[in-house]
Amino acid sequence: MKTKINTIQEYEANFSKAKNQPELFWQDIASQFEWSKKWDSVCEFNMYEAEFSWFSGGKTNITENCIDRHLKDKANQTALIFEPNSPNESAIHITYKELHHRVCKMANVLLGLGIKKGDRVAIYLPMIPELSVSVLACARIGAIHSVIFAGFSSSALSARINDASCKLVITSDGGFRGNKTIDLKGIVDQALKDCPCVNNVLVAERTNTEINIIPSRDVFLRDALAKASDLHLAQPMDSEDPLFILYTSGSTGKPKGMVHTTGGYMVYTAYTFKNVFAYEPGDIYWCTADIGWITGHSYILYGPLLNGATSIMFEGIPTYPNPGRFWDIVDKFKVNQFYTAPTAIRALAKESLSHVTKYNLKSLKVIGSVGEPINEEAWTWYHKNIGKGKCPIVDTWWQTETGGILISPIPNVSPQIPTYATTPLPGIQPVLMDDYGTEIKELKGEGRLCIKYPWPSIARTIWGNHERYKETYFSAYPGYYFTGDGALRNTNGMYRITGRVDDVIIVSGHNLGTAPIEDAINEHSEIAESAIVGFPHEIKGNALYGFVTLKGNVESPEKLKEAINKLISAKIGPIAKLDKIQFTNGLPKTRSGKIMRRILRKIAEGNSDNLGDISTLLNPEVVEHIKNGSKQSN
Ligand code: WT7
Repeated sequence: MKTKINTIQEYEANFSKAKNQPELFWQDIASQFEWSKKWDSVCEFNMYEAEFSWFSGGKTNITENCIDRHLKDKANQTALIFEPNSPNESAIHITYKELHHRVCKMANVLLGLGIKKGDRVAIYLPMIPELSVSVLACARIGAIHSVIFAGFSSSALSARINDASCKLVITSDGGFRGNKTIDLKGIVDQALKDCPCVNNVLVAERTNTEINIIPSRDVFLRDALAKASDLHLAQPMDSEDPLFILYTSGSTGKPKGMVHTTGGYMVYTAYTFKNVFAYEPGDIYWCTADIGWITGHSYILYGPLLNGATSIMFEGIPTYPNPGRFWDIVDKFKVNQFYTAPTAIRALAKESLSHVTKYNLKSLKVIGSVGEPINEEAWTWYHKNIGKGKCPIVDTWWQTETGGILISPIPNVSPQIPTYATTPLPGIQPVLMDDYGTEIKELKGEGRLCIKYPWPSIARTIWGNHERYKETYFSAYPGYYFTGDGALRNTNGMYRITGRVDDVIIVSGHNLGTAPIEDAINEHSEIAESAIVGFPHEIKGNALYGFVTLKGNVESPEKLKEAINKLISAKIGPIAKLDKIQFTNGLPKTRSGKIMRRILRKIAEGNSDNLGDISTLLNPEVVEHIKNGSKQSN
């Protein structure tokens, strides 16, 4: 069977086969990879217990499929292009052969440090080639990588390192982002004060800034690589062996370490990459995400490499040295598929169009969006100015938990409409649930988005806490996977994601739980309690609004606001800083003591005349106070 869908009839045929004979459908796709032992069963699952296995009994190594498999015919083709932060620094093209060499050497470095199959390795690196090589080297020896976005603070880092008892941290002296230099090694040193599980730190050199070295613990990557052999045979992995852990926010303070396993993740990311981006051999593909997020895992590294693609990794930011940087890179490498986030599109759309018109962008064939709902204005700007009215836009809906894209148009095959992620990919059965927990059967409807049947790359568990996994995703609607998103469906069966229905807020495409932010704020000695809600923001999609009650009087509200944001930066990272802070003398609560966020959300949105019935509150009087305060302070 060929895996590339070229017509709507093929899409429909694939969709029904995947629905009616899922095992036959997925085994055909899996057969196109190299397995050192074939699987015993395609899929076994129990949606009630949240147990899934795909291709179990099969043995493979994802890096053999990402790299070695291509050495026959693509050894000298570029696998990765590294575009540095500064346009004055040259790009680096890494061929499949060179990638193989680098990953094998790195695998031997890891083994030399005593890392074995099943051990956890934390990777805290900027977007430099060493990041990709480290991820792949872990996968090659069977160590479980846990990439932690290099924008996270030292306490967020140590919490994640400890949660998975990582033995090794791979970092760099520093990182470049726009005109800033970030002291990553300093952040790691701080984090490791609380991480007894870590034996070694492997340090890549990027900024050549002065760093502190603990000789018994720290190893320069350069020295270790110089001594390492480049011969390494990939470790055969069971299909269900964990490949990686990636943290996402949840509605309690503790981040959830989503666990993805080997075989199903491999098959699904490869299949979706090929179809969603209509990737053809020789195409140059660029996803602007950071490898610290799932988008980078699945669609900078694994999906593209599994398809033998050329994938760009960009170290910098869209506005440095000017807002034309993305388009400069598109023309420079003649990018064919470009994948970014609505927040970047909105930020660039605000700038003068001359930053776009300077470039011809002729190479583009498909442009994509991910991370949050794309509003119609941004969609139209993207379609007209970047896609020149002719490139299909793939608005791809998915999650860290889903491993790969679940709902998206297929370019030049299935129809697209602005703001709709449109139709499910083959193998995906979305449903909408009404308020009573029943499936909405009519085509047109609005409800909570759930998925009915497992797909190969569904997360298998939360690291160390299967109960929480079950509880979070499989308990609200027994028998279904609950996404946490609301959605509507039109009469053509197309889905439009309307946003989170839980305590997660998507800010600039980053998934932020309100609980960890509130926990951080509440640590301040003058603060009694806080509640965070989102409100619409022109560029970020949503921004954060904090309602904060104090223990006593505050002398300098401005200073306290600053202190709150500093605390958030230190505990989580600058991405979680609040745009607005309002001090209140109480928070609206239900009689059982739960904060009524619905009311706060409306006030934050500037919609406070429309609060609905508040008479059942424990303390309705605070609402008036908060309403007045919000008008004064904002
Ligand atoms: C949440 C998942 C998937 C990679 C990046 C984010 C929102 C994601 C879309 C989209 C509307 C979207 C959802 C989802 N989201 N893509 N195309 N349209 N919303 O991964 O950090 O796990 O966040 O992002 O709310 O649940 P994540």
